[in-house]
Amino acid sequence: MNNEIHSVLPNIINHTLVTEAQYRELYEYSLRDPESFWGEQAKKYITWFEQWEKVFSGGFDKVDVHWFQGGKLNASYNCLDRHLEIRGDRPAIIWEGDDPKESEIISYRSLHEKVCRFANVLKQYGIKKGDRVCIYLPMIPEAAIAMLACARIGAIHSVVFGGFSVEALKTRIQDADCKMVVTANEGVRGNKMIPLKRNVDAALQDCPHVNYVVVVRRTKNSVSWDQQRDIWYHEAIARVNVECEAEIMDAEDPLFILYTSGSTGKPKGILHSTGGYLLYVAITHHLIFDYHEKEIYWCTADVGWITGHSYGVYGPLANGATTLLFEGVPNYPTSSRFWEIVDKHSVNIFYTAPTAIRALRREGDEWVTRTSRKSLRILGTVGEPINSEAWEWYFRIVGQERCPIVDTWWQTETGGIMISALPGATPLKAGSAAWPFFGVAPLVVDDNGNILPEGKMGKLVITQPWPGMLQTVYKNAERFINAYFREFPGWYLTGDQAYRDADGYYWILGRSDDVLKVSGHRIGTQEVESALVLHSAVSEAAVVAKLDEIKGQSIYAFVTLKIGVHPSEDLKKELMQTARNSIGAIAVPETIQWAEGLPKTRSGKIMRRLLRKIVDNDLANLGDLSTLADPTVVDELIKICQKK
Ligand code: WTA
Repeated sequence: MNNEIHSVLPNIINHTLVTEAQYRELYEYSLRDPESFWGEQAKKYITWFEQWEKVFSGGFDKVDVHWFQGGKLNASYNCLDRHLEIRGDRPAIIWEGDDPKESEIISYRSLHEKVCRFANVLKQYGIKKGDRVCIYLPMIPEAAIAMLACARIGAIHSVVFGGFSVEALKTRIQDADCKMVVTANEGVRGNKMIPLKRNVDAALQDCPHVNYVVVVRRTKNSVSWDQQRDIWYHEAIARVNVECEAEIMDAEDPLFILYTSGSTGKPKGILHSTGGYLLYVAITHHLIFDYHEKEIYWCTADVGWITGHSYGVYGPLANGATTLLFEGVPNYPTSSRFWEIVDKHSVNIFYTAPTAIRALRREGDEWVTRTSRKSLRILGTVGEPINSEAWEWYFRIVGQERCPIVDTWWQTETGGIMISALPGATPLKAGSAAWPFFGVAPLVVDDNGNILPEGKMGKLVITQPWPGMLQTVYKNAERFINAYFREFPGWYLTGDQAYRDADGYYWILGRSDDVLKVSGHRIGTQEVESALVLHSAVSEAAVVAKLDEIKGQSIYAFVTLKIGVHPSEDLKKELMQTARNSIGAIAVPETIQWAEGLPKTRSGKIMRRLLRKIVDNDLANLGDLSTLADPTVVDELIKICQKK
């Protein structure tokens, strides 16, 4: 831990939105009187067609939380229509293509028109309020357009990351029972083509309820075509009207489903509401990134993840900001790409993942220092803990010690940022997410729910509802309760480990459950295990995280083969391919270790805790092995692991 405080940021403090004293006062007020606090903010940040009857009701005890009941609004109206008069000609989206020669600026007026047109296309092909639409697109403006078009007519979007495989796409389409898929013929990243339409074609073999596939022509290459089902995006939008009234939605009507991994079972469809979510992403985007009118804001996350939803699309557009969408990767054509884009579009606020920072740091300072970056004012990180070396490099080399870093802690489930510094208000400590946002009440507790003293690591819970919180797990209320409210009734369980220091700073150390964060991507160990056992040679598999200098964590798989099967390097490659086919490239194990046997309790449960210690070479803390069905397997595993 690095307890040094960086607080000398006078150029920032001149014009930040919140000071330290204001933060403390408002924070206290937000917890003491959440109704008044959130009621005031809801009037400030959101345009309502009709005001709510109650700011919030219910609580975590019965898990019956409601936000802004009776309120009427539309998310697309808030992100577009209400800006037209004052900033219709300002850029809403700056799109930067994979190829540095390609970029496009879309004004609010033009985005409004595009969204209205696509909303009319959705209607024309039978999509109604409440229907689910799957969006499987690369980082092109049409991704944001399709999301906002769904929101405009009250359809629920389910964006699936373009890096997910056919199998993963299929299970998500099936679970949400989508009626339509919006995709592109191909995606382009780092000068490589991604066969999105081909994946959709394969997935839809088993999705009989999908009636139509709308296809954006991103590249010139042709794709196979189903005359009854497939529709070219550009042809469809040319045929429809440019007018489309925004549907009047209840505050509690769902806005979207986004699948994310848990410690057990298949990915969960996290369901977010319209009113609470939109308010929460708007206020956090405004205050945490200290957004000022006319600034250029860039969040590098793909729209396939929650960060892309909340801080690439909804938060910035609700605030009338200019949001930059980047199709490519940080190291194409060179490792200067991020900073060249910053200079090209005069980016003021830049938000990325620690993995990207670590990878770029490894390439050397020269890629950064040859660019100007003088427009940069605020830097942000998200998705995994940031080590202090990476933090210092980001602060000193990228930000030239001028830009505060907001290390933002949150989750798909929380909708928006929960713990973060506020620029100018919070003295920074490298590696700490700092203080809770308004209305957020975290606690660090032990396994029995006792509150832990400062400096003691434990489980992070949230004790009061906040507007951005998930509404439920789609079609699975039981799983919602079990995953988040069963272990500590009355509190929301985050699944993270953390401690709070004497200055009230939270230090998030990683997950306390079986969820991995590989390059910031969230993957369940059980998902990877289920994928590996699909291979006919595999009898059993156990997956744990291994520390990785760049990715934060990598996937380490212990695999027991069926009797008579011979281990080989080729078989390892096959297993890696199996994981790729079942989930996607992000789920491919970095290491596969053959295991004659796995450490299990007498009731047959695999002890992953032990495997984690073996992989981390933390042999002094293996603990009591006497409860194992066969303690001798442990020595064997250690021996092989140490050779790796
Ligand atoms: C981790 C991403 C440390 C954490 C927005 C959390 C972080 C999980 C941070 C959620 C951070 C996110 N410091 N860890 N600043 N931000 N995490 O759902 O383990 O993809 O539970 O949402 O990422 O991942 P998810």
